[in-house]
Amino acid sequence: MKTKGKQVLSIAVILFVTVCLTYYSNLIVWNGISMNDLDKESLTVGSVRKLLEEEELVTERANSNGQQKRLPQCVIIGARKCGTRALLEFLGLHPLIQPADQEVHFFDDDRNYNRGYEWYKEHMPYSYPKQITLEKSPRYFITEKAPERIHQMNSSIKLIVLLRNPTTRVISDYTQVYYNKIAKGKDVDKFEDLVIDKKTNQINTGYRAVQISIYYNHLLRWFKFFKREQVHVVDGDKLITNPLSEINKVEQFLGLQSRVTENNIYFNTTRGFYCMRTPKTNQKCLGLTKGRKHPHIESSILQKLNEFFRPYNKKLFSLINQTFDWDD
Ligand SMILES: *[C@@H]1O[C@H](CO)[C@@H](O)[C@H](O)[C@H]1NC(C)=O
Ligand SMILES: *[C@@H]1O[C@H](CO)[C@@H](O)[C@H](O)[C@H]1NC(C)=O
Ligand SMILES: *[C@@H]1O[C@H](CO)[C@@H](O)[C@H](O)[C@H]1NC(C)=O
Repeated sequence: MKTKGKQVLSIAVILFVTVCLTYYSNLIVWNGISMNDLDKESLTVGSVRKLLEEEELVTERANSNGQQKRLPQCVIIGARKCGTRALLEFLGLHPLIQPADQEVHFFDDDRNYNRGYEWYKEHMPYSYPKQITLEKSPRYFITEKAPERIHQMNSSIKLIVLLRNPTTRVISDYTQVYYNKIAKGKDVDKFEDLVIDKKTNQINTGYRAVQISIYYNHLLRWFKFFKREQVHVVDGDKLITNPLSEINKVEQFLGLQSRVTENNIYFNTTRGFYCMRTPKTNQKCLGLTKGRKHPHIESSILQKLNEFFRPYNKKLFSLINQTFDWDD
């Protein structure tokens, strides 16, 4: 009698476990998560619930125009002070490009990155299926982990990087920090004190603005993960003097018909740079902080910077099979 009771109990337990497992695996299959995905996580009820919730969020929600938010198919990765904002605004003139207004800093900020792709997507603009969603965060360019992270999200994504004369970029970088500090009533360093290492009288490679301008070092990291065809290099200096030709090359890179023309872009003599005509707002210029006057810098220091960057530039040109007119 006792053994019979035990048998019944064990059968009941086995049945219960089987029912539970079937229920969970069905749940899992319904939500399109394979058991393989779950194996990677510890298979606790908590992790199952987490995965299910994430799946639920993926369900597309359209706005009243029938547009949806999508992860970007193209990212402008930098570099800082090379015209990333201008390019983003210019590209926004194209009807098939939908840029994110803000820098999202998803791949360079661990806290944001750990919030996951859903959080990233929430920060994207609404778009139609044929439109390309675009984001720019110039710090991606110098962030160690960014290439691998972006590759993990979409290995065939298109990347745009803007480069300009590295010496000019250092000065522009300095200028921005200079004005920010002045506005906050802080003390400012002189350009030469930052750029020249007093002990050696050579270029100070510890100065961040100098490090960013060694484009070769940064791009090496990107080409560990991306093919050359996936990365379009924009001439940031030409974007200022002749924006249309650079914009048209980007349109081509994105596989789009050329739609941005002389009608959309004009040279504003008051501002001293190009502004846009948009169907909605008639005209749009970049913020007042853009295109600020650079401080005067001694020619001996400029020369030193140019000489410092020259060998890196050479290596860069052969890395990207593209040259720039950066010789002083
Ligand atoms: C990845 O990027 C490519 C190139 O922009 C795009 O065609 C493709 O749809 C993207 N894939 C996903 C899943 O977003
Ligand atoms: C140039 O830009 C300024 C403000 O940014 C605007 O007031 C002015 O009308 C513009 N000039 C032309 C010719 O559109
Ligand atoms: C380098 O660029 C030139 C001109 O744009 C092109 O003809 C050539 O095929 C490229 N070479 C490589 C290795 O990509």
